[in-house]
Amino acid sequence: MSSNDSKLHTCGEKPDEHCPGFQRGDHSDHADTHHHHDHYHGDHDDDKEFYWLYEITHKGTMTPEDSCKIYDQHADDYEKLINGNYCQHLNFVVNDMMEIMKDKNGRILDVGAGTGANGKLLKQHGYNNIDALDGSKEMLKIAKTKNVYDNLIHLILKGGVRIPNVENDSYSAAVMSGVFCPNHCDSTIFPELIRVVKPGGYICWDVNVGEEIDKEKFNSDVEKLCKEGKWKKHKEKVHEGYCGEEKATTIVTIMEVL
Ligand SMILES: C[S@@+](CC[C@H](N)C(=O)[O-])C[C@H]1O[C@@H](n2cnc3c(N)ncnc32)[C@H](O)[C@@H]1O
Repeated sequence: MSSNDSKLHTCGEKPDEHCPGFQRGDHSDHADTHHHHDHYHGDHDDDKEFYWLYEITHKGTMTPEDSCKIYDQHADDYEKLINGNYCQHLNFVVNDMMEIMKDKNGRILDVGAGTGANGKLLKQHGYNNIDALDGSKEMLKIAKTKNVYDNLIHLILKGGVRIPNVENDSYSAAVMSGVFCPNHCDSTIFPELIRVVKPGGYICWDVNVGEEIDKEKFNSDVEKLCKEGKWKKHKEKVHEGYCGEEKATTIVTIMEVL
């Protein structure tokens, strides 16, 4: 995917801002008032290589099941993308989490682990008790080859779904990078993550500015769980990075389970 081909991004009113490649377009702030095309129509060879990712991370009529099937078909392509360090923001969550979670033996759940980038980074820094959860078997197959995960859980996580064979308060942290976007995960998964993360543990994720998700609902769900005393905000950090040659603003949120 070439980052300098603006046709890939179709970013509506602000083509130069926060319009970074596959899942990071500057759409959501305008989504209610402006129509923008969600379909890839670039003609650059690199763009064609990653158009599938663009399609599944933007608004449409897909379900998480559909998008995970597409990840199944493109697991090798995804691996190639992250090996090229195409999108810097995918490291932000783990880097921020490692600043606060000092216990390297603490058990960590990597939700939407994909091909294992987070696990690899965690392992490089000495964390050694990591599980992966993902809705795509083929992505997990590649994650397995990294030899950084103890357990690989194949599951499409969504509201009301329970992670099988995982007791309450099992984990010291859950990390998620690049999973809160259309057709992936949404805020309805938080109660289950709170169940499996122990009090004092962390739930950490990133959302890019301009992500096409319903931010109002997302934030109000986060807030509701605060009011219910389930968790509290530990830290929020804004990162400026690049996805390809496009700037991307990423917000990392770290909640502490109560
Ligand atoms: C953009 S990739 C991010 C992968 C990895 N976290 C990274 O930073 O490279 C999103 C991953 O989330 C998985 N996924 C999407 N929706 C999911 C769901 N509802 N439950 C579990 N996994 C999901 C996909 O299969 C894919 O591997």
